[in-house]
Amino acid sequence: MARLCFSVHIQARHIATLAILLGLSWQVTCAVVTNDTTHVAEKTFDYVITGAGLSGLTVGNRLSGKGHSVLIIEAGPDGSWNPAIRNAEDHAFPPEFCNWKYPVYDEDGRQLQWTANAGACIGGSTSINGMVWYRPTKPEIDKLETLGNPGWNFENLFPYIKATERSIPPNEVQASQGAGNDPEFHGRHGFINTSFPTPMRIPKAVGLYKQALQLAFPGLGPSGDMSNRTSFSLATTLYTIWHDPVTGKNRRSSAADGLLWATEQQRPTLTVLAAHKVEKVLFDKKLTATGISFLPTDARSLGRSIKVYARKGVILSAGSLATPPILERSGIGRSDVLKAAGIHKLVDLPGVGANLNDQPDATALALMAEAHHNDTSIIDGLNGLFAPVIALIKAHQLWGSNSNVYLNNLTSSTQLRFRAQALVDAKAAVNIPGAEAILNATIDLIVTHKLPVAEFLSDTATVILLTAFWPLLPLSRGNIHINTSTPFFSHPIITPRFLHDPFDASVAVSLARASRTVFSSSPFLGIVADAYFGTAVGSNGTDEEHLAWYKSQVIGASHWLGSTSMMPRRLGGVVDSKLRVYGTKNLHVVDAGVLPFQVTSHMMSVLYAVAGRAADVIHNS
Ligand SMILES: Cc1cc2nc3c(=O)[nH]c(=O)nc-3n(C[C@H](O)[C@H](O)[C@H](O)COP(=O)(O)OP(=O)(O)OC[C@H]3O[C@@H](n4cnc5c(N)ncnc54)[C@H](O)[C@@H]3O)c2cc1C
Ligand SMILES: *[C@@H]1O[C@H](CO)[C@@H](O)[C@H](O)[C@H]1NC(C)=O
Ligand SMILES: *[C@@H]1O[C@H](CO)[C@@H](O)[C@H](O)[C@H]1NC(C)=O
Ligand SMILES: *[C@@H]1O[C@H](CO)[C@@H](O)[C@H](O)[C@H]1NC(C)=O
Ligand SMILES: *[C@@H]1O[C@H](CO)[C@@H](O)[C@H](O)[C@H]1NC(C)=O
Ligand SMILES: *[C@@H]1O[C@H](CO)[C@@H](O)[C@H](O)[C@H]1NC(C)=O
Ligand SMILES: *[C@@H]1O[C@H](CO)[C@@H](O)[C@H](O)[C@H]1NC(C)=O
Ligand SMILES: *[C@@H]1O[C@H](CO)[C@@H](O)[C@H](O)[C@H]1NC(C)=O
Ligand SMILES: *[C@@H]1O[C@H](CO)[C@@H](O)[C@H](O)[C@H]1NC(C)=O
Repeated sequence: MARLCFSVHIQARHIATLAILLGLSWQVTCAVVTNDTTHVAEKTFDYVITGAGLSGLTVGNRLSGKGHSVLIIEAGPDGSWNPAIRNAEDHAFPPEFCNWKYPVYDEDGRQLQWTANAGACIGGSTSINGMVWYRPTKPEIDKLETLGNPGWNFENLFPYIKATERSIPPNEVQASQGAGNDPEFHGRHGFINTSFPTPMRIPKAVGLYKQALQLAFPGLGPSGDMSNRTSFSLATTLYTIWHDPVTGKNRRSSAADGLLWATEQQRPTLTVLAAHKVEKVLFDKKLTATGISFLPTDARSLGRSIKVYARKGVILSAGSLATPPILERSGIGRSDVLKAAGIHKLVDLPGVGANLNDQPDATALALMAEAHHNDTSIIDGLNGLFAPVIALIKAHQLWGSNSNVYLNNLTSSTQLRFRAQALVDAKAAVNIPGAEAILNATIDLIVTHKLPVAEFLSDTATVILLTAFWPLLPLSRGNIHINTSTPFFSHPIITPRFLHDPFDASVAVSLARASRTVFSSSPFLGIVADAYFGTAVGSNGTDEEHLAWYKSQVIGASHWLGSTSMMPRRLGGVVDSKLRVYGTKNLHVVDAGVLPFQVTSHMMSVLYAVAGRAADVIHNS
């Protein structure tokens, strides 16, 4: 029975027939995953959720577990059969399959060279992401509450982080190669496996990087567990993986694996409809959300639109790059955007699509000396499990005694007003008080709480050493809106506005320089053949040249958030502290878009907690 439950998702209809022939009542115990609308069209569920990614699956799992009937509609297919998704290690990062690859634009509407990654199959971005797992710090989570969201603090959210995690402790070999695990910071009984790779990747390169990074960033010391945020952060991270002795592979533990396919998570109250894209939310005259309309993802005309209804609520979980367009198509957003698209305005809510942000990621390469090309302790070709060494770098480690020059600039109230005005002018913030509140939260984390300002991720591939890095707590903001000529069939217009804030640019320049310092340092002597590989900027390059290089390289780190912020409405918020969309009833947003500012952990630890708590808040209200 359990096995049957596990396999129904592959071809729900056929297995259903088989089950009936065998006299099994699988429908009673199993979640249904299907492409077929016959069983859902025009039906009513307690909750209808858009997007079967990290947040949608978390909320859908919890609400259906409490007995509510839940339908999740996912635009992408079931990707669980695909080895690039199942296995953590043997694919290029990120896997092409299951990626929206959204186009991105500069402020003049010109398309940029790169595209934004976002998961496009069941499991959402957790089906294609980098799997890096460590926890955030207390001050940054507490800032959510300070911004006007009672109850959204570390004390309330940390238990949800622990409840997510099934931490598999490192074995002796892993521990001897730097796998740290302080049990106090990890859960043991959650639904997402976290562990270190088997075997640990490129141990010799990791050792050299650790020495070189300490030389490049004075004061940075090696730590054990990345999740012990009281120590210096230069360590090997946990990943959301588990080692499968049967296949010998490190396997991904996605939201779908943990919350949908897992045999112990089966329940008859959950239905997932794949391969259908949500168009908009349906309302009654009092602006109570009553359902949604959607189409087959490959539809070419709105004529094929299908409706389903929600008794208790509609929950938007399509991610920070897809939920704002759904709101706008529904008539909720900035007036001029709705007007240009000819959409009847239901709620004037200018925060929709503003405040979009991600960390601006650049990658520096160094060519390795030929003598080391075959040394698998330096190059193993397995960079699906990327960044076996991560450093979180604080302002004084990046700039030494100069750091006050940069920090004083941040704390000046004139500068704060300046920055806020620039965001309002660029339509990246709704108003000055809102922009100031968000910027000030991040500035306080950097200046008062001394959180790291940069992340530095190191790896090797084929014949190169490579490091990716980004300003960790950026102050730049962009926006995202529908393409007003074809709001459903065209991708949204995403304008990241990376590095517009001078602080972000200063961090970027220093990181670009530091990456070359790392490759040129004594530990890599004889191993690196060209520390400036692939760049015309040499050791005497100016700040302007380094910044130009950075901008020519930059892509999103794939930690998009902020486009439907949880904040008071007067500050440009889109949802209140119960995740309810302002001006409506029974409509919620639960996804990365509700976080107004970046955090210093990667997203998953925070988002599983936010979505878990959101489900409880929704259930209890
Ligand atoms: C390449 C990449 C690498 C990353 N690396 C890491 C990492 O190493 N560590 C980490 O912690 N985080 C990482 N992240 C970030 C993390 O995975 C995301 O922040 C997180 O999954 C976001 O959760 P979400 O619920 O907001 O959206 P998602 O998980 O992206 O889910 C959104 C879902 O909605 C669906 N959808 C979109 N539009 C519609 C529509 N109109 N109708 C129906 N469904 C729709 C999408 O197909 C998707 O399945 C990475 C992300 C990416 C893309
Ligand atoms: C569901 O649709 C996807 C395409 O979106 C397709 O790859 C898959 O085979 C379909 N599954 C079934 C059971 O029809
Ligand atoms: C966290 O790291 C600090 C500094 O290295 C150490 O003193 C402390 O014991 C660690 N905490 C735990 C719970 O291991
Ligand atoms: C977690 O790991 C165990 C093996 O330790 C495995 O049986 C299980 O399927 C994994 N679960 C997920 C969600 O990855
Ligand atoms: C590395 O391996 C390749 C292929 O086996 C071989 O041709 C080459 O000579 C080796 N290089 C060194 C430096 O050993
Ligand atoms: C201080 O901020 C202003 C504008 O915000 C910027 O022009 C200037 O370059 C900054 N100085 C430093 C040292 O960051
Ligand atoms: C900025 O944050 C600090 C610390 O929370 C607070 O004391 C100060 O009043 C805030 N300033 C603004 C302009 O919001
Ligand atoms: C918006 O959509 C139209 C119609 O598909 C397309 O021609 C146009 O290029 C899109 N706009 C942008 C900025 O991509
Ligand atoms: C920078 O250094 C290179 C040699 O590394 C030299 O050729 C070049 O002229 C120098 N450029 C400047 C602007 O000094």
